[in-house]
Amino acid sequence: MQKKYFYVTTPIYYPSGNLHIGHAYTTTLADILSRYKKIQNFETFFLTGSDEHGQKIEKKAIEMQLSPQEYVDKVTANFKILWEKLNIDYSKFIRTTDIQHIDAVKKIFTNLYNKDLIYKGQYDGIYCVTCEEFLTSSQISSEGFCIISGDKPQLIKEDTYFLRVSKFQEFLTELLKTNFLIPESRRKEMLKNFIEPGLEDLSVTRITLEWGIPINEDLKHVIYVWLDALSNYITALGYNSSDDSLFKKFWSNDAEIVQLVGKEITRFHSIYWPVILKSLDLRLPDKLLSHGWILFKNAKMSKSLGNVINPLDLIEKFESDTLRFYIAHELPTNRDGNYSEDLIIESYNTHLANNFGNLASRVSNMIIKYFDGELIDTNFDNSEIFKFANETIDKFQTLMNNYDISEAVHTALLLGQHCNKIIEEIKPWNLFDKKKYDELKNFLAAIRYCITAMTLMLKPILVNKIKLFAQQFGYEQEKIDFSNLNTIKFEKITDKLIIFKRI
Ligand code: ME8
Ligand code: MG
Repeated sequence: MQKKYFYVTTPIYYPSGNLHIGHAYTTTLADILSRYKKIQNFETFFLTGSDEHGQKIEKKAIEMQLSPQEYVDKVTANFKILWEKLNIDYSKFIRTTDIQHIDAVKKIFTNLYNKDLIYKGQYDGIYCVTCEEFLTSSQISSEGFCIISGDKPQLIKEDTYFLRVSKFQEFLTELLKTNFLIPESRRKEMLKNFIEPGLEDLSVTRITLEWGIPINEDLKHVIYVWLDALSNYITALGYNSSDDSLFKKFWSNDAEIVQLVGKEITRFHSIYWPVILKSLDLRLPDKLLSHGWILFKNAKMSKSLGNVINPLDLIEKFESDTLRFYIAHELPTNRDGNYSEDLIIESYNTHLANNFGNLASRVSNMIIKYFDGELIDTNFDNSEIFKFANETIDKFQTLMNNYDISEAVHTALLLGQHCNKIIEEIKPWNLFDKKKYDELKNFLAAIRYCITAMTLMLKPILVNKIKLFAQQFGYEQEKIDFSNLNTIKFEKITDKLIIFKRI
């Protein structure tokens, strides 16, 4: 049975610099899922935000000669500008410096401490500041560098509080046998690299860090980034606060909960986060989608490596829908993808200008030319086209319900290709010349049905341009969903539009 609520989250990004296209990638995917679920009549909540504590941020602020708070205020303001320009329709932007979050995290710590799931001990190990992560030997190169950031990690020996992750060995083994984490390859990697070798307790506080959430139990300690950061997904909904109405909806069993992350933080989200939730007696998310990296010059695009592409420049150059389409279609989540500006252009020209856009403008032009813009009747008699369109819609929804956005978009585009092909075969202009007007009407109505179906499928992605398709065909798009596509009311049309001009 379909659930009532849909909750989707992105990681909360570090304001250690401005965001790049890798961050735009995750956030756009989440936005697309949220918009799709809205069409499916879910009540949705889409969370993004910023992860503002920790050594890395403290260091940056000093470099900029600002207080940490001044520094993070400045950088997160830029995050919001980017999301606005990219048409990201989030429900809430959480900051880990929000008072409500800080209070709730302190209570989470106290709760776990009281249950003896957190205890005091001493940490002795290796820490990478760039990744804000304690490294295991498999994460350190033979030359002694962190394999993700390439930086030299620090040796740390200090008092700390630990979360009893090792108690959850069986729970996690069982969890990672299910399809909670996708793709499959990442699930196996977690089992093999972290779970099967035996889980270790996780250090959750530091004494050498100023810029973090202090705990009530011990004045010397602040919470180390991950317990603070991961908790955002529930504190944002009001967990442990006076108003937890959103939490009651979106973290309930009536909610489908999907979390998107890049693969480098899969360990935190598939191991530590489930342990935290289980310790708090809370449900787990339905799905953790761990996606691959956008590479640039064969390395992970990253703030710390400095090989980044600024999405604001791309939006300026190509418009936000073009970038959204590139992200949705050209960067499947199950593998790494190389960043390529040529591919942005090629993808736009092939799929939007030549396929979908061209199809829509030829068909609306024919309606204007042959019927003076009036093709009011929705009904048509063409079982072959009707069947192809409906099979496409079904397949599209199945793929989207499995969060396979790239394949879903591909499926929608095939319908356009199919229509362009049968237009070449049927040659509607010949029907007109032969005065077969009824046949011509019937054919154009059938193709128009396919176009409106494509418009609906691509609506979560092409959020600006899509409005023009409704204008091009004379109907109101707001009320259309997958159940009433064949009852659209069409008005007379007059405007000849070219929605996607070739670049
Ligand atoms: O890890 N390709 O923040 P962060 C694809 N604050 N996705 C990329 C990417 C790339 N080259 N670069 C970044 C943190 N991302 C923590 C998270 S969550 C409780 C705390 C995306 O600023 C991807 O989603 O390093 C990745 O996981 C995230 O940005 C890391 O952002
Ligand atoms: Mg990172």
